[in-house]
Amino acid sequence: MLPLIVFFFSCVSISTTRPTLNYLENVFSMENESTEFRSEAIKRLLEVFGMEDAPVTITRGHKQPPQYMLDLYNTVADVDGVTKDPHLLEGNTVRSFFDKLRSEQIEFLFNLSTVARSEKVLTAELHLFKLRPQASVIFNRHHFCQVSVYQLLDNTKMNISQGKKLLSSRLIPIHSSGWEVFTITQAVRSWLMNEGSNLGLLVTVRTLSGSQMDVKTVRFASGRHHHHSKQPMLVLFTDDGRRTTSLENTLKDSNGSPEAPSLPVPSLPLSSAGHRAARSLDYEEDGERMPCQRLPLYVDFEEIGWSGWIVSPRGYNAYHCKGSCPFPLGQNMRPTNHATVQSIINALKLTKGIETPCCVPDKLFSINLLYFDDDENVVLKQYDDMVAGSCGCH
Ligand SMILES: *[C@@H]1O[C@H](CO)[C@@H](O)[C@H](O)[C@H]1NC(C)=O
Ligand SMILES: *[C@@H]1O[C@H](CO)[C@@H](O)[C@H](O)[C@H]1NC(C)=O
Ligand SMILES: *[C@@H]1O[C@H](CO)[C@@H](O)[C@H](O)[C@H]1NC(C)=O
Repeated sequence: MLPLIVFFFSCVSISTTRPTLNYLENVFSMENESTEFRSEAIKRLLEVFGMEDAPVTITRGHKQPPQYMLDLYNTVADVDGVTKDPHLLEGNTVRSFFDKLRSEQIEFLFNLSTVARSEKVLTAELHLFKLRPQASVIFNRHHFCQVSVYQLLDNTKMNISQGKKLLSSRLIPIHSSGWEVFTITQAVRSWLMNEGSNLGLLVTVRTLSGSQMDVKTVRFASGRHHHHSKQPMLVLFTDDGRRTTSLENTLKDSNGSPEAPSLPVPSLPLSSAGHRAARSLDYEEDGERMPCQRLPLYVDFEEIGWSGWIVSPRGYNAYHCKGSCPFPLGQNMRPTNHATVQSIINALKLTKGIETPCCVPDKLFSINLLYFDDDENVVLKQYDDMVAGSCGCH
């Protein structure tokens, strides 16, 4: 298996890596041109993005992502896809689903088969676009209507009266128009536990006295008759549990502690020694030894062949850390105490085989991806530790 992630974060720098080039290309040209190798590398990269296979995008073409998902993406991410504020989203995944029934009635069915079993449901919402009443019924004596959303239950197993379960109900002004959002979390949880129980949702509109409202008075856009941008939609907020503990937390206390840790044990595993040899060779080839710093590393989704299913961003700057960590390590090198001691041991040659510390990311940011899944649903997902925020000698 190819340890692809290592190329992001390892202290071992690849001599041909240049910021402007796609790193996968470098890996291919350097080590092996075979398609097998390439697909293995892409597979590993997909794993980083939590997928087994790239979504199939043959039929997509003209499909437009829901405006809600585009707005959400722009709220949580900057142009590069980097998360603006990690506390904005509760979970790390937002999925949107279009209605499969496209019924004349206000009845909906959403296929949730793309939701992974491991995903923890936080909130589920039904988004309906309320249309203005038709002109003929503008002068209605009612000002409000009671809109209720029901989960349809299996009638064959229950009494007829128990055929539906109320999920959400609200008074809505009759003359309003625009999106109405209803919470349907409980229903979605039960559907995900038992796929067969998903018989859909029913919406009823009644007057305040409880009688059925005229269907021309209160209307919701349907997938069949109205513009794509007004389609009924289910929005599901989940967490896939893939959040990693951030470097910032684990290394929080690494600087500024006055007492030096005990001296490093003077033994190196063979493989590690090999890497270190490669690294010092690289530095010699570089000629001058630039100090540890953060340099650009653009990951271009088009070059990787993912632009068909990723809506945003087109790519992102992952950055990489490069440079030497020689004695004496200044505070601008953000050294750990361990790195400071190691650099001293190295400078004084107190112990054989001890190299200078490594230049590595010491702060990592998450990025957001807006993409089409296998079922052509638009998904927003946050991935931790994707962008090197700063580099330090460790
Ligand atoms: C490159 O690919 C060929 C054929 O798949 C394989 O025999 C060879 O071992 C590979 N070399 C490396 C360095 O992975
Ligand atoms: C839901 O979608 C999946 C994959 O697209 C499909 O295999 C399955 O039959 C669908 N289920 C329903 C109830 O339509
Ligand atoms: C249906 O209702 C009757 C009376 O209310 C009750 O005795 C019966 O158990 C119910 N059946 C089911 C399947 O819930």
